[in-house]
Amino acid sequence: MTQNLPPPIPSFIPETAPFSEEQRIWLNGFFAGLVSLDGFGVTPLSGEQAAALISGATASKADDDDDGGALWHDQTLPMAERMKLADGKPLRWRMMAAMAQQDCGQCGYDCKNYSGAIVSGKEERLNLCVPGGKETARMLKTLFEESTNTPPARKPAAVAKESAPVAPAVRGSSRDNPVEATFLSRTRLNGQGSEKETWHLEFDLSNCGLDYAVGDAFGLFPANDSELVDAVIKTLAAPADFPIGGRTLREVLTDGVSLSPAPDMLFQLFTYITGGERRKKARALSTGEDPDGDAETLDVLAAIEKFPSIRPDPEAFIEALDPLQPRLYSISSSPKAAPGRIALTVDAVRYDIGNRRRLGVASTYLAERLSPGSPLRVYVQKAHGFGLPTDPAVPIVMIGPGTGVAPFRAFLQERRAIGANGRNWLFFGHQRSNYDFFYEDEFKEMKASGLLTRLSLAWSRDGNEKIYVQDRMREVGRDLWSWLADGAHIYVCGDAKRMAKDVEIALVGIVAQHGARSAEDATAFVTDLKKKGRYQQDVY
Ligand SMILES: Cc1cc2nc3c(=O)[nH]c(=O)nc-3n(C[C@H](O)[C@H](O)[C@H](O)COP(=O)(O)OP(=O)(O)OC[C@H]3O[C@@H](n4cnc5c(N)ncnc54)[C@H](O)[C@@H]3O)c2cc1C
Ligand SMILES: NC(=O)c1ccc[n+]([C@@H]2O[C@H](COP(=O)([O-])OP(=O)(O)OC[C@H]3O[C@@H](n4cnc5c(N)ncnc54)[C@H](OP(=O)(O)O)[C@@H]3O)[C@@H](O)[C@H]2O)c1
Repeated sequence: MTQNLPPPIPSFIPETAPFSEEQRIWLNGFFAGLVSLDGFGVTPLSGEQAAALISGATASKADDDDDGGALWHDQTLPMAERMKLADGKPLRWRMMAAMAQQDCGQCGYDCKNYSGAIVSGKEERLNLCVPGGKETARMLKTLFEESTNTPPARKPAAVAKESAPVAPAVRGSSRDNPVEATFLSRTRLNGQGSEKETWHLEFDLSNCGLDYAVGDAFGLFPANDSELVDAVIKTLAAPADFPIGGRTLREVLTDGVSLSPAPDMLFQLFTYITGGERRKKARALSTGEDPDGDAETLDVLAAIEKFPSIRPDPEAFIEALDPLQPRLYSISSSPKAAPGRIALTVDAVRYDIGNRRRLGVASTYLAERLSPGSPLRVYVQKAHGFGLPTDPAVPIVMIGPGTGVAPFRAFLQERRAIGANGRNWLFFGHQRSNYDFFYEDEFKEMKASGLLTRLSLAWSRDGNEKIYVQDRMREVGRDLWSWLADGAHIYVCGDAKRMAKDVEIALVGIVAQHGARSAEDATAFVTDLKKKGRYQQDVY
């Protein structure tokens, strides 16, 4: 009779790696148990495991489906508060509460469906929530560990990174199924003297046959900055051509792994190859403590520089890093206006920490590293609940400061292309009227031609007083209320953390004042607009 023995733990650490036998055993065990948990890949759960996870052993199916109004689904709430609101709920809802609540789609789901996919065993990766970052990944790992005593079988990162999509999908329709587009051009949208660096980018889709609708987002796979890659290789004192899974170390560092926030796993790796005080420090960092008050500043390079003589095996080092995730951008063109083409409006993220300039991976890849004519892997993330009204006569109000204007350029192009007769009102805002009026000529022409019925502008740094889009909304509250009474749909796009909430508060105030309602009734009115799909947001 054959016995079902647990599979042997395969070796992650090559025999040639510079570790003692004891260290090798530790490291293999470490990767066996933890790499997978950290989101590189968790073998799908068995039916019973999944059931145990969902139920927390007590909840009924009806309880599982009931999110109780998902009170934690508010991107402005801190993690502790969200977890408190989900306390006592089945695991699915606690996992959902651990996510950033932006429904941004970067993970390939919305928050509710991402948590559902994890507990059902369909989704293996626990570190897909980009806006939630390490905080979300840590909480998901804790919840996962708490909920099952069965350690998931390990799967190496290189394999997990290419793990199969949840369901077979149309090519180019998800992050698991990208196609190749061609980058065409970039044009700076800010004038000389602006504090911002925002680009209008165009791509050719004619060879990949990708289709999209206005309101959708474009997903793309970036590459790390080559100077940063070189600095990491130098600090590791490893050969750039060190072979890893059929590729070189340099190639994997360029487009396979994230070099941004140093993951807990990297510090865990350090605990196994260092000793004394340094091991203590690495252990503290691996559990989210901040012994030197610099944890927030530690990207991968800073982390290896902090432990100067550490020389991890390159393969183990790569295994300890997070995979490089694709990024999403709101599409700023209509396929009806420019068939076979797609446009984006991207703000380049750059900031200094100490004496080193940090670069947003994807935005600076698009802003400076990608050459016109180059291919790149892309997909279209279909919008869920963000799109033009089906009736072209319905009036629309679009509120999009900064890069938030992107989908509204697309909406306007689309409405022109289909000859929609509904009225269009755009609220745009940015820092300075002289430098930061994106697509100024286009919007002025749309206004002159009558396509854009109203254009309201808010410049936050033109004078001493900050004027934001919501200030302009309040000034014309009576008119806004009248558009609402005529059935207008309201759209908000841009910053999720502050702007989106402030705009919603302003709208509630306008409804209360001009619709003669109590604060409570005005809030209910706006909630109802959302339910009816008349208040839609695309925030990040
Ligand atoms: C649905 C959707 C639509 C989007 N549409 C657009 C769009 O139209 N245009 C657009 O520009 N972006 C858009 N984004 C945001 C975009 O996806 C990226 O998040 C953004 O470009 C930054 O990515 P990155 O790779 O360049 O930066 P990353 O490498 O991801 O770095 C960004 C991170 O750097 C850190 N950081 C940034 N600034 C500082 C600072 N000053 N100090 C310290 N840390 C800092 C923060 O942790 C931040 O999360 C959208 C996002 C979503 C989800
Ligand atoms: N994490 C954050 O705190 C934060 C904040 C802003 C943007 N971002 C991100 O930075 C990226 C690019 O931003 P962007 O280029 O689109 O422009 P942006 O930085 O969002 O700024 C656009 C305009 O919005 C104004 N603004 C700031 N706070 C506001 C608020 N509470 N309500 C209304 N308007 C407000 C800005 O004014 P002032 O800058 O003069 O105040 C500016 O005039 C996006 O990815 C965005 O999410 C992050």
